[in-house]
Amino acid sequence: MKVLFVCLGNICRSPLAEAVFKHKITAHQLADRIEADSCGTGDYHLGHQPDPRTIKTAQRNGVAIWHEARQLMDQDLTEFDYILAMDQSNYDNILKMPSAGRHQHKVRLLREFDPLGMGDVPDPYWGNLDDFQEVFQIVDRSMDGFLKEVKRTLA
Ligand code: 4NP
Repeated sequence: MKVLFVCLGNICRSPLAEAVFKHKITAHQLADRIEADSCGTGDYHLGHQPDPRTIKTAQRNGVAIWHEARQLMDQDLTEFDYILAMDQSNYDNILKMPSAGRHQHKVRLLREFDPLGMGDVPDPYWGNLDDFQEVFQIVDRSMDGFLKEVKRTLA
């Protein structure tokens, strides 16, 4: 199974989501059955490492992180089984890709899996470290819900 996390710049929310997901699938002994990646709908930060605040937040929460930013490609819609958008704007942009029609069922909002409520993972780029920690908390609890769905799918 292949899972793709998508935000705008691919330096804040989606690389953190990818790192949290990889941490959890390793803890659940599922790492050999699942691949995860992240990308952005925008092209502002291609090839960049995650934002220093993303790295700091991952480290503070005991999660290893490594990623180089890349942009969403049409081929991703064919290749991945789950494409999880961090917010509605990115969700809408994923659905504008040429192949989206055939693969629309794969595209979901991450916070569909948040037990505390749906909506956007707020963009922390213009915020401070507290905003990054809030993103971590939203991503962390949404991921527990998503992992339950993944386990059902794999079973
Ligand atoms: P991300 O955050 O989508 O969570 O990676 C952003 C990163 C960069 C920009 C916007 C959001 N930007 O405008 O450069």
